[in-house]
Amino acid sequence: MPLPLTTDRRRTGAARALIDRLSAEGRLPVDDLETLIRTATDADRAYAREAAVAVAHENFGNRVFVRGLIEFSNHCRQDCFYCGIRKSNRETERYRLDAEQILACCAAGHALGYRTFVLQSGEDSRYTTEVLVDIIGRIRATYPDCAITLSVGERGRSAYQAFFDAGANRFLLRHETATADHYARLHPAGQTLATRMECLRTLKDIGFQTGAGFMVGSPFQTVGDLARDLAFLAELRPHMVGMGPFLPQHSTPFRDEQAGDVDLTLFLLSLVRLMLPTVLLPSTTALGTARSGGREAGILAGANVIMLNLSPTDLRPKYLLYDNKPVSGDIAEMTQAARASLGALGYEIVVDRGDHPEVAR
Ligand code: 5AD
Repeated sequence: MPLPLTTDRRRTGAARALIDRLSAEGRLPVDDLETLIRTATDADRAYAREAAVAVAHENFGNRVFVRGLIEFSNHCRQDCFYCGIRKSNRETERYRLDAEQILACCAAGHALGYRTFVLQSGEDSRYTTEVLVDIIGRIRATYPDCAITLSVGERGRSAYQAFFDAGANRFLLRHETATADHYARLHPAGQTLATRMECLRTLKDIGFQTGAGFMVGSPFQTVGDLARDLAFLAELRPHMVGMGPFLPQHSTPFRDEQAGDVDLTLFLLSLVRLMLPTVLLPSTTALGTARSGGREAGILAGANVIMLNLSPTDLRPKYLLYDNKPVSGDIAEMTQAARASLGALGYEIVVDRGDHPEVAR
């Protein structure tokens, strides 16, 4: 005779059934996602993690893609309450890289085998459409074999189209939260979720490999908000998802808020992998900052991308989106260190373009 189920075991069975359905169908109703996030035990999270790693393995083998990040300006016209380079932060010393300096970062990365350059900045209007098109065009001409990813925030369709035509391939724009009133608590009036969503749909429509994403544990976030974030990703089906824990930055309005939970972030990474099997999913710098070994844990939860910093070493301390962001480290040594730490877990770092499988085909 079977033993009677304890409440806990029955709940575990229910969470696993939801994880299986998420894998099979690529989506779940928001209520079910909320139940899953709220009730999953450590054992359920381990179950999701193992399934996510298996799915990543089916699609990418033991390969982890590495991207070279170039933080080319920390000027920003936006004022996101969580972010260290927000406009109102008077403590941040601002800088800009010109085309030559950006190309020098690319050259350093290219010599080490990097074949994706991620150009990230605050929303800096000094880089007009023309200026960015020139920079993109020069990178494209110098490195025809490389992917160019932009992470420069909200612009209009014609600007995005011009960037694409100049040779940019991918665009990262996190949605931050898919719940409008939560969005309004993370941003000043004038920055809206509707605009963000519109940008994301435009980027996808133009043909960019597009990345959305959100912070885990941002102030005021509820489990319902997280469920809506996952449901939004299931609907948008982006090529990339950027997700890391919120980490307070000492000169922002959220300086005294609690950091996001690392284990919850890892669980959500697994759920995203199960929902979007071929998605390019970075194990983020924030995850590695929040916990030592966090970056490796992200890969072991189903992520398949890491981003290493090609920015000039002396400028890195000025690009502090959150506190304790790593700023030191020669890129050759960091690449080698990542190769060693992931190699010890059976993963191989590959420096090729690593396009989304749908695009690579
Ligand atoms: N903690 C964690 N992530 C942050 N970001 C910005 N500020 C923080 C912070 N304090 C993330 C945002 C943004 C990306 C570039 O960095 O999600 O989209």
